[in-house]
Amino acid sequence: MKDFLAISDYTPAEIQDLLDLAVKLKEEYFKKGNQPLFKGRVLGMIFQKPSLRTRVSFDMAMRHCGGDALYLSPNEIGLGKRESIADVARVLSGYVQALMARVFEHEHVLELAKWSSIPVVNGLSDYNHPCQGMADALTIIEKFGRSAKGLNISYVGDGNNVTVSLMHISALLGWNVTVGTPEGYDMNPKAVEIAQKIAKQTGSTLTFVRDPHAAVQGAHVIYTDTWTSMGQEEETAKREKIFPPYQVNAKLVAEADKDVIVMHCLPAHRNHELTDEVADGPHSVIFPQAHNRLHAQKAILARLFGVA
Ligand code: CP
Ligand code: NVA
Repeated sequence: MKDFLAISDYTPAEIQDLLDLAVKLKEEYFKKGNQPLFKGRVLGMIFQKPSLRTRVSFDMAMRHCGGDALYLSPNEIGLGKRESIADVARVLSGYVQALMARVFEHEHVLELAKWSSIPVVNGLSDYNHPCQGMADALTIIEKFGRSAKGLNISYVGDGNNVTVSLMHISALLGWNVTVGTPEGYDMNPKAVEIAQKIAKQTGSTLTFVRDPHAAVQGAHVIYTDTWTSMGQEEETAKREKIFPPYQVNAKLVAEADKDVIVMHCLPAHRNHELTDEVADGPHSVIFPQAHNRLHAQKAILARLFGVA
């Protein structure tokens, strides 16, 4: 595959293989540092939205493997405004060896990939967040084991871009997904259709409920994300009224499996979608999860560069 744009572009075997590579690169990094796999390569990082984890973890993934990264801010690039996406893609293809792009509209990252002769990685769009999905799965596997089938993954809150990638990777790996969202904040129906097709092949189940308590029964993972994603800021006040019943707090966590892990892609809005008590409590894996972005993305880049 030339690009990394969506988890659902891959087969279960391909995703498992990428995760195995991430585990290997992580072990190697902590034992002796990574090999200079990306020596002489530069990743261009296009950001239309803010970022902490995506920016730093991609930059460090390149540096750890002997390469380099270049941050391109919204003002510099003016993607689709100062210059057409097709022209930006073709120009950058002659300067750097791969692109990572965080965009508002998913179409824009698809357009970049269409016109680039180099690999393009989706660093979050309004539709999905596949690099996050990879780090999430790596974190779940580290806790429950590589061959753990039949895990129950519960997502509570806004059915958003992060939920799409979590649902797709969970379905690919044979995990059961339950999503609890308020009316009007359901998941993208196209993404659900794709997940249903995957689930048919892998034997995973997909369940959609309104009641957050019903959503977490038997959960091995409880996952939540911000109630207001980047680009939806004008809806903040309205969302803050609707979502409080979906807060992940100690009471909700107590309803899940006793060994449940609590996940959040971060940034967290503490004491809104996730309480401090839970975020900093014994079930939380939010920081190892954030750190796994680094290792998952090394694996993605290594495959796209064809060096591992
Ligand atoms: N989870 C995540 O993508 O974080 P950033 O927005 O800080 O990159
Ligand atoms: N759903 C969030 C994820 C941030 C990493 C957003 O799109 O803002």
